[in-house]
This record gives sequence, C-alpha cells and structure tokens, in this order.
Amino acid sequence: MRTQVGIVGAGPAGLLLSHLLHAEGIESVVLENRSRADIEATIRAGVLEQGTVDLLKAIGVGERMQREGAVHHGIELRFAGRGHRIDLSELTGGKAITVYAQHEVIKDLVAARLAAGGKIVFEAADVSVHDFERTTPKIRFRHAGASEELACDFIAGCDGFHGVCRPAMPSSARSEYTRVYPFGWFGILTQAPPSSHELIYTHHARGFALVSTRSPDLQRLYLQCDPHDDVANWPDERVWAEFRARLATHDGWAPHEGPIIQKNIIAMRSFVCEPMQHGRLFLAGDAAHIVPPTGAKGLNLAVADVRVLARALVAFFREGRHDLLDRYSETALSRIWRAEHFSWWMTSMLHQFPGNDPFQERLQLAELGYVTTSRPKAITLAENYVGLPFE
Ligand code: FAD
Ligand code: DHB
Repeated sequence: MRTQVGIVGAGPAGLLLSHLLHAEGIESVVLENRSRADIEATIRAGVLEQGTVDLLKAIGVGERMQREGAVHHGIELRFAGRGHRIDLSELTGGKAITVYAQHEVIKDLVAARLAAGGKIVFEAADVSVHDFERTTPKIRFRHAGASEELACDFIAGCDGFHGVCRPAMPSSARSEYTRVYPFGWFGILTQAPPSSHELIYTHHARGFALVSTRSPDLQRLYLQCDPHDDVANWPDERVWAEFRARLATHDGWAPHEGPIIQKNIIAMRSFVCEPMQHGRLFLAGDAAHIVPPTGAKGLNLAVADVRVLARALVAFFREGRHDLLDRYSETALSRIWRAEHFSWWMTSMLHQFPGNDPFQERLQLAELGYVTTSRPKAITLAENYVGLPFE
C-alpha cells in the first residue's frame, strides 16, 4: 500500500488533517487502532473555539454542528456564592464558542472522509513507524490477521498522548516539559434539562466544579476529585450533594438533577514535547502536548496544529517548498505555549491545591475578583477562551 501522507490516529487531529489534505488533492491513509463505533462513542471535550467552528464550516463538515451545537456568548465565573458573567462576545468583537461534543465532530469527520472515498483503517493493530529519517517512511501494522506496510512520503503522528509516534522519535532529539496536577475531574452525563444557559466555572473551598451541557436533555458536569479515586465510591446521591454544595449561591441556585448515565475520572497534566518533528515524522495534537481541561483547549489545539501542518504539506507537494515544513514545530509551538499558559492559569485560579492555606485562598479570590471587575483582565480571559486569531 502507498500514499502521500500516512496518518496514525483517527482523533480530531488525524481525521481533520486527512480532510484538509484531500481538499488540496493530497492523498492520505488514516490508521486507527480502535473500532469506528468506539471512537464515535468516546465522551471527551465539548467546547469549540470560534476558529475551529469557522474551519469546520469552511471545509463542509459544519452542517450538523450548526444545527445541533449551541452558540454561547458568555461564561460565568462563580465564587464566594455569587456568579459573575464574562461577556465573551462583547469583549472580543463578536466572537463566541460553540458547545458541540467531540465525538459528534468525530462522527461528522468520519462520514465526510468516507463519503469522499477517503481511506480509514479501523482496528489496525501493532502500528509502528519506520524510516522517517530517510525520504521513504513506512508504517507497519496488522489488520484482519495480516501484516501490512504503508509506504508514504510523510508520517503524521496524530495518535494521542499514549500513541507510538512520539516515543519513536529518538529521545536525544526531543525535550519534554511536564506538570502533573494533584487532582482530576470527575465527569458525569445526566438526563436533565440545562441548569444554566451558559457554562459555569466555580471556585469553592470543597473544590472546583463546572456546569456544561450537551443538548436540551443531556448535561455534562465536572467536579474536582482525587485523580486516584474510583467512580464506584461515588453513588449518585454523593455526586449531587457535592454539586449542590459547590455550586450553591447566596440566592439559592441549585443544579437540575436527573439520572446519571455516565461517570468517569480524568487525570490532569500539562505536557509539551519539543520539537514536534523529526525527519519526516510530524506530531500533532495530544501526541505532542496535553493541557488540563480547564481552558477547554485540548481539541482546539489539535485543530490548530493540523491547520499549520496541512498548509506546510500543501506547500511541499504543490511547490516543492520545505520551509513551512521545517518551521512547523516552531510555528505550532507559539500557539501551544500560549494555550499551556492559559490552561495552567485557569486551573490554578479555580482549583483547590493540597495544602492550600488561607493566604493562597485569598490570592485566588483576589485574582477572580480582578478578572470579573477589570475590563482588560476580562478581555485576556475572553480572547484566550474563544481562541486567539491565527497568524
Ligand atoms: P485523540 O483524540 O487522543 O486521538 C488519537 C487517536 O489515535 C485515538 O482515536 C486513538 O485510538 C488513536 N491511537 C492511539 N494510539 C494508536 C496506535 N498505536 N495506533 C493507531 N491509532 C492509535 N479536552 C477538553 O478540552 N475538555 C475535556 O473535557 C476533555 N476531556 C478529555 C477526556 C479524556 C478521557 C481525554 C483522553 C481527553 C480529554 N480532553 C478534553 C482532551 C481532548 O479530548 C484532546 O485534546 C483531543 O482528543 C486531542 O485530539 P487528538 O486527535 O490529538 O488525539
Ligand atoms: C467541557 C469541557 C471542558 O474542559 C471545559 O473547559 C468546558 C466544557 C465539556 O465537556 O463540555
């Protein structure tokens, strides 16, 4: 088998890259180790930046998102028993975010790739990448019991944090920057009407809480928890008692409760691998970097990376230019480090850290007070949250 770009991973990064290349007449094959049903059912992120939304619309995969996604013009920061609205659109010249689940984006991208005759190999086992220091890279894998080899001009490692592409880069050729947080997020899906028409990020002495949504009758909420905890320790009544306590306001606000149909615990870390390329192997998305979810940046950064990578590959195949490929990592990393900072800042301001003392608590409240009363500081939050413009 041969193609121009061999893509490992059918997450948002891999599928979108394949679609962007197809639009420019460049062939690719996507190798995914899970099944289609599995990737289309995995619950992850939910917030799309304005630039992500605009791109999905521009390439013809935004139709269902526009119909079913919810456009939000603001978010609420809640602390000391009161809510404070950050008017994202007013502060950013009209930009907004769209709440539309990641697995719905995946479904739309898979459907678009297959409709256009794109090749996605699901349940590809034992994927390994080879010869990317030469001009003849290869990807080996097993599929339906047979050993296969995909020869290509470039390999895109879009295989997430636990994938095989980053570890295949020689360790002497990369530096890794990591911060692991001493807490996780306990996420639930509940069958209930929305508790709020906008997302609520809450700082509370018992820990962070977030109210998000998925549809008029399905809601997504998160609680700061011990990353090593077990969902079995959290019967529904305990979950709701914790949400009620953390989200309570002086005027008696309470979340709408309903049956909880899913519970999961997400570990939180910040991570960057530099550079994001070696020879003809290019990393994109979670394969190269992770952010804690507080800024809702993970999925959006994956999209931003492949936008840069697709443009560089197009310049190579169309005009024989190497310069954009050579600068891929440097170009992508400037946005990535900004998002790393924003996600770390939101996380630090909103969570309880072990050993938080009253001094630390006062500093967090001072920061929240400043963000919710100073226009320049609110603009900083808003422009990062809706997504900084592309260069
Ligand atoms: P992924 O979506 O991870 O896609 C990688 C793909 O590669 C997967 O389909 C995987 O099966 C495949 N793969 C892996 N290894 C191999 C292999 N060896 N061979 C072939 N295929 C392989 N972000 C937020 O902003 N908010 C959230 O609430 C949030 N929740 C999250 C919850 C979880 C459990 C996780 C893991 C992430 C969450 N994120 C969240 C982050 C966000 O979902 C990611 O940033 C986003 O999925 C990155 O897209 P990606 O395409 O780079 O990687
Ligand atoms: C969601 C996830 C996030 O990480 C976030 O910051 C906001 C919303 C969500 O899953 O809806």
